[in-house]
Amino acid sequence: MTAPLLSVQKLSTRFHTPRGVLTAVNEVSFDVRPGEIFGLVGESGSGKSVTLRSLTRLLPYGATIDGVVLWQGQDLVGMSDTAIRKVRGGQISMIFQEPMTALNPVLPIRVQITENLKAHTDLDSSGRAARARELLDIVGIPDAARRLDEYPHQFSGGMRQRAMIAIALASNPKLLLADEPTTALDVTIQDQILNLLLDLRDDLGMSVVFVTHDLGVVAATCDRMAVMYAGRIVETGTVTDVFRGPMHAYTRGLLGSIPRSGTERSMLLSIEGTPPGLASIPNGCAFHPRCVFASDICREKRPDLRPLGPDRAVACHHSDAVLAAGSVLA
Ligand SMILES: Nc1ncnc2c1ncn2[C@@H]1O[C@H](COP(=O)(O)OP(=O)(O)O)[C@@H](O)[C@H]1O
Ligand SMILES: [Mg+2]
Repeated sequence: MTAPLLSVQKLSTRFHTPRGVLTAVNEVSFDVRPGEIFGLVGESGSGKSVTLRSLTRLLPYGATIDGVVLWQGQDLVGMSDTAIRKVRGGQISMIFQEPMTALNPVLPIRVQITENLKAHTDLDSSGRAARARELLDIVGIPDAARRLDEYPHQFSGGMRQRAMIAIALASNPKLLLADEPTTALDVTIQDQILNLLLDLRDDLGMSVVFVTHDLGVVAATCDRMAVMYAGRIVETGTVTDVFRGPMHAYTRGLLGSIPRSGTERSMLLSIEGTPPGLASIPNGCAFHPRCVFASDICREKRPDLRPLGPDRAVACHHSDAVLAAGSVLA
């Protein structure tokens, strides 16, 4: 098996608030291999964005991170601020759900790409100009020469997302962190952006960590996946294995809420209740109040994330029963 590009080990992220310490990410571990698209999925508030932002320490003041994030032999958690700034936006780039928050509204796209090329490549000014056009071509923005001089507000939602990807690619990243990059887009444009990410992985050999609440998107793009609930990973595996045989009731419920083709995309038709807030995470298994498989042990003892194979792990006391109940998709 190839060595991982990124290895996250027992990552925990806490917010120190006036109301006390809130643990948003709790001992999360996963690896990302070269050229792989790794999906991080869960309902809103499960800790996906905080996990992703913790990798490059892009967190608000007052947040603390424990654990190890190994990147090419170096631990990003313990790295100096100067050193991590070079990694962030360089070898590791990030794209977001809402491009307008990441794009600078008062600068033409050309300037925003050029800034990144200046910071992270050795290209001279004519090399940067050529590369900027090439990047717009790569992300499928036609008429690059003209569009480079336009401002973000002159782009449609889908084109803005492409522009943000072009800016992210300017540094030749080895890893792209994508936080719900297609959630705000309509389904047709969403599919185009997902296909673009797949092409970029194939052509550039880039790895991607893909955060989404949409299991349909995971199925269409990811190789392996981890399901998060209340700040923890509750199940992980190859996308094929998890879809074929979910072993955590939460995953099984999420799978049951994928709309059939032709119906409206919506979430969680089959899981009762809502996820807990960070200040009131239930004892035992955090999912037990919503779980049809729950018994006494689930209320008392938190299940460990048990490895079941090189790529498979689950944190559920009743994983055998969940597996036997079968995938609701089958
Ligand atoms: N700056 C912050 N201070 C306190 N709590 C926060 C902060 N940022 C996020 N959280 C909390 O952390 C939890 C996880 O948030 P997030 O990672 O954004 O969820 P997701 O991306 O899965 O929807 C949520 O309960 C959220 O309210
Ligand atoms: Mg989020």
